[in-house]
Amino acid sequence: MELTIPFIICQFMGGRKNKKKKIAAVDTFPNVFQNPDFQDPHLYSSEGQQLDVKGKWNELIFKNNQPITLELACGKGEYTVNLAKKYPERNFIGIDFRGPRIFTGAKIALDEQLTNVAFARMKIENITNFFATEEVAEIWITFPDPFPKDKHEKHRLTFPKFLERYKQILKKDAILQLKTDDIDLFRYTKSVIESEKLNLVYYKEDIYATPLDFEVLEIKTFYEKQFLAQGKSINYLQFKFA
Ligand SMILES: C[S@@+](CC[C@H](N)C(=O)[O-])C[C@H]1O[C@@H](n2cnc3c(N)ncnc32)[C@H](O)[C@@H]1O
Repeated sequence: MELTIPFIICQFMGGRKNKKKKIAAVDTFPNVFQNPDFQDPHLYSSEGQQLDVKGKWNELIFKNNQPITLELACGKGEYTVNLAKKYPERNFIGIDFRGPRIFTGAKIALDEQLTNVAFARMKIENITNFFATEEVAEIWITFPDPFPKDKHEKHRLTFPKFLERYKQILKKDAILQLKTDDIDLFRYTKSVIESEKLNLVYYKEDIYATPLDFEVLEIKTFYEKQFLAQGKSINYLQFKFA
C-alpha cells in the first residue's frame, strides 16, 4: 500500500474521529468511573453523579465483599478483563488516564456482563484520593511507560514515591506484580525494591524462554503483543511491602 500524504492525512483524521467516538462511548459506560479534572478528588459515574468511592468500592460499585485487584496503566485492560473471567470471586479495576484505551476493556466487560470489572480513568499519582487504607488486595502494573531518561525517573510507576502511594492502599501482605519488556525499567525496579528493603518474591527475565511458572502470564496485553512481534523479551517480578 502506497503511503501518500493524502492517505496519511485520511488515516490520521480517521484515527482522531475514532478516538472521539470512543471517548463519547466511554462517557456512557456504567462500568467506567472518571476523574476528568485531576485536581478534583472525586470520580463521576456515566450519569454524571459525583461518587465518594474511597473505601466504598465494594459497597457502592461491586455490591459484594470480594478482594480488589488493580491493574495500573491498564490501557485496553487485558489483565483486568481476563483475570476477572478467571477469578469471578475477586473484583478488578483497570486504571488509566486515557479514555479511548479503557474503551476496549470496558466494552468487553459490558458485552460479556462481567459484574466484577470496573475501570477508572484517573492519574495514578492521585490513587490515594480514590482508595482507602488497605482497600486493595493486589496490584498489577502492565507494561508501564519506561521513562528511560534519569531526569524523568519520578514518572516511572515503580519510583519510590509511587510505591509509597501503593503501600497506603494495599493490605499488609498484598503482592505487586510488574510485567514489562523494558529491561532497564525491570532492573531499576529490582534496585528500588532492594534499596527500599522490600520483599522481592519472584524475579524472572525473559519469561517465555522457559515454561511459565504462572498460568496468568499467558494473558498478553496489546503492547506486549507488539513487543513480542518486534522480538523483544518479556520480564516479570512480584514483590511485597511486608
Ligand atoms: C505502554 S502503555 C501500556 C498499556 C497496557 N498495559 C498494555 O500493556 O497494552 C502505558 C499506559 O499507561 C498509561 N499511563 C501512563 N502514565 C499514567 C499515569 N500517570 N496515570 C494513569 N495512566 C498512565 C498510558 O495512558 C498508557 O495507556
